[in-house]
Amino acid sequence: MSLLAVTGLSKAFGGVHAIEDVCLQIRSRTVHSIIGPNGAGKTSLINVLSGVYRPDAGSIMLDGRELAGQPAHLFAAAGIGRTFQNLQVFFNMTALENVMTGRHLRERCSLFAALLRTRALVRAEAASRDAARRLLRRVGLGGYEDSPADAMPYGALKRLEIARALAAQPQLLLLDEPAAGLNATEAREIDGLIKQVAADGTAVVLVEHNMRLVMEVSDHVFVLDHGRKLAEGTPSEVARDPRVIEAYLGTEAAAAATTGGPDAAG
Ligand SMILES: Nc1ncnc2c1ncn2[C@@H]1O[C@H](COP(=O)(O)OP(=O)(O)O)[C@@H](O)[C@H]1O
Ligand SMILES: [Mg+2]
Repeated sequence: MSLLAVTGLSKAFGGVHAIEDVCLQIRSRTVHSIIGPNGAGKTSLINVLSGVYRPDAGSIMLDGRELAGQPAHLFAAAGIGRTFQNLQVFFNMTALENVMTGRHLRERCSLFAALLRTRALVRAEAASRDAARRLLRRVGLGGYEDSPADAMPYGALKRLEIARALAAQPQLLLLDEPAAGLNATEAREIDGLIKQVAADGTAVVLVEHNMRLVMEVSDHVFVLDHGRKLAEGTPSEVARDPRVIEAYLGTEAAAAATTGGPDAAG
């Protein structure tokens, strides 16, 4: 059974159909990528799947439970975590503190316990700190624990966001362009991290323009164009699909690529 089953999902902004009648199945422990030209609706889809936007129509079933129409905090509580295309890090906090904010969703603390600073609370805080340290190491930021986020390089901040999302122990992690703005070496480090997250049991939905990364890590690829699902399949199936080549490169390049003529696109 799929972890996430999306059917007939639509969202419009005024007259713009950002996503239209999209159906997706996401399995546990896998990496599914969503690719498509700028404006295809990728970020809108992530926003609807994380509860930031309420869909106009459609169903979002996570583990057999309907989430469409629920408020965003219930998406998070149900186990959907995310990162943002434009970094959303707390710049006035350290790396460790940023990751700890992600864990608060998993913790329950009464006002009474907080005011009296009960022993149970102190223990819980220490456990939370230890878990956040382990996560920082897991994303390769072991040396940054006490660094203020505003002093960290961009590539490290991208991984810090992933650590913060993982701190909530999501079943499904939505990554919106985790490699955007990274150099080739930094992007390769993201490969390993994404594969490891999936192997450890969290399904990943990846929105990414870096095709090398998509081809390397994905079990399955969905192609969006003008808000609609244009194609899906394994990375190699999608890469040779003429509709996909056309959406990216235009009709002439698609014809050349499929006939394999001397002008075939590489
Ligand atoms: N909050 C919004 N308000 C109005 N239009 C939006 C909003 N979010 C996205 N759109 C529009 O929806 C379409 C899809 O955008 P987006 O989901 O950001 O695409 P992508 O991430 O694939 O580049 C675009 O035409 C964009 O202008
Ligand atoms: Mg986007």
